[in-house]
Amino acid sequence: MCGIVGYVGPRQAAPILLAGLEKLEYRGYDSAGLAVIDDGKLQVAKAKGRLQTLIDQTENGRHPAGSIGIGHTRWATHGEPSDTNSHPHLSQSGRFAVVHNGIIENYQALQTWLADKGFHIVSETDSEVIAHLIEYYAERSDDDLIDVLIKTIGRLDGSFALGVLDTKRPDRFLAVRKASPLIVGIGSGENYIASDIPALLPLTRDVYLVDDNEIAEITAAHIQLFNLDQEPIEKDVYHIDWDVSAAEKGGYEHFMMKEMAEQPRVLGETVRSYVHGGQIAFGLAEFSAAELKALRHIHVVACGSAYHAGVYAKYELERLTGIPVNVDIASEFRYRNPLVGPDDLVIVISQSGETADTLEALKESRRKGARVLAILNVIGSSMAREADDIIYTIAGPEIAVATTKAFVCQVTVITMLAHHFAYLLGRLSDREMADCCDELLQLPALAENVLQDMSLYQEMASRLYNQTDMYFIGRSSDFAMSLEASLKLKEISYIHSEACPAGELKHGPISLIEKNTLVVAMSTEARLAEKMKSNIAEVKTRGAHTMVVTTRALQSLFQGVADDIVLLPDARPSQLPVLSVIPMQLFAYYVAVLNGRDVDKPRNLAKSVTVE
Ligand code: F6R
Repeated sequence: MCGIVGYVGPRQAAPILLAGLEKLEYRGYDSAGLAVIDDGKLQVAKAKGRLQTLIDQTENGRHPAGSIGIGHTRWATHGEPSDTNSHPHLSQSGRFAVVHNGIIENYQALQTWLADKGFHIVSETDSEVIAHLIEYYAERSDDDLIDVLIKTIGRLDGSFALGVLDTKRPDRFLAVRKASPLIVGIGSGENYIASDIPALLPLTRDVYLVDDNEIAEITAAHIQLFNLDQEPIEKDVYHIDWDVSAAEKGGYEHFMMKEMAEQPRVLGETVRSYVHGGQIAFGLAEFSAAELKALRHIHVVACGSAYHAGVYAKYELERLTGIPVNVDIASEFRYRNPLVGPDDLVIVISQSGETADTLEALKESRRKGARVLAILNVIGSSMAREADDIIYTIAGPEIAVATTKAFVCQVTVITMLAHHFAYLLGRLSDREMADCCDELLQLPALAENVLQDMSLYQEMASRLYNQTDMYFIGRSSDFAMSLEASLKLKEISYIHSEACPAGELKHGPISLIEKNTLVVAMSTEARLAEKMKSNIAEVKTRGAHTMVVTTRALQSLFQGVADDIVLLPDARPSQLPVLSVIPMQLFAYYVAVLNGRDVDKPRNLAKSVTVE
């Protein structure tokens, strides 16, 4: 969602801001803008649409001049994408400029209050009020802007990361956050802010991770963080050890393809981080047998693809641990007064660690006394700072909006976690544990095998890309992967698609099947394969074009009923969920490319969903 950047130093700000915004494009946006203080005055450039429009408007950043500025990519929530609604927003007199990521829930009440005080609101956004509130408080006191900003954020309900420029202090800008991501970059003779690491990678590797209600005062020479009592805060410098190439396409046409191709490597890194000598251990998430035995329930909470990993977690954790597991979509969980308490473990799953609904579900669970384990990809993210225990997926930065490599790492961490818990509970022998570890260590090579011949998926896509509807079916963990296969396809190709448990077909969805409707059956579990065969036969009888994703061992069962067979290498149950979803990611990718879609930045979607 919205992205923020800021710069102060000896160089011209505009080109640096534009380069930073380019690196934040992946978060999703529909307009962009920047403000720079030049000769004591704010110079603003804003444009609806792609960043390229802003780049053209500013002639590649040749103007405006000025060496302090803030920039923004906006993902519209309140008010359509337009030049006026784009950020930065200026205060009435033009003294202050503000960029905002998040949502101000009480903005209408604030608009009315400000209108009463003579302020004229020009945009439809929830953000503009912030600039006017700052001006209101600044005009009424001699207080420093830090004090003014504290008063201002005291009036705001909701979430925000803000960058604020003040023309009276052209040597510094301020930033603050509450429940929206913000980092401060430490340069040499210049300093920065950004919503996310990729924007700062070409500039610095040293950053401060700003926490909620912390204010950063940033000049070219100095960065100081304060709490709401204006007391200075000392913070550790966080060193980013990413390779710059991690945030580059590296010769691939799309980030999504690069990230799919990286899956064997990141699966290996994730597995090798936790598997040692035939045992699994999570350094930041240690549980004793007694703690696990005392658990009443496990709740798994997440959104989107991470929720699909959660559906898999339900099957896998229940099967192996015998502990009842509920799985919930975070936005549903947080608003229904969930029945969680001190005897429960809540597992949240999130690539970004910033998804607003998941973050709030995490906080609510902790308020109710539950222990919270977070499975996360981004180190130092908001969820990492709130959870009791953390297991990191070692997928590296994921730039394409549609998740691929982080998802398979989530699934793999869940496989490891379920086996680890079962072992601690005495439900798995040393031998079984060692076998599981071997299987996990073999996973990268098997994933490599699936990725070897992309032309298979390309060929299928070239025959099927102009379908208008697609259906995905599966049972048990294959159903969890069907959910993911269906989402992958719809979000990047814009083709309508649904997933349903195969046994549910006859209770409704089968009425949608007509001649040539594509039905993809995911069937890797031998014990359920006969049932899946019957389900495929049912849709084929009604004219469907059928595709099955299965193993070599089960292949013969589906010959004759499946029009297309995607063959996976023979593999163990702990390996098959990951192996089965990779061909469906590739199929979705090629279908989207053939339909001319913007694969890395699908319409209306954002990478990091920081508003609910
Ligand atoms: C789909 C996708 C989204 C995310 C969801 C949760 O490809 O990426 O559905 O899975 O927005 O995001 P995180 O995992 O960052 O909490």
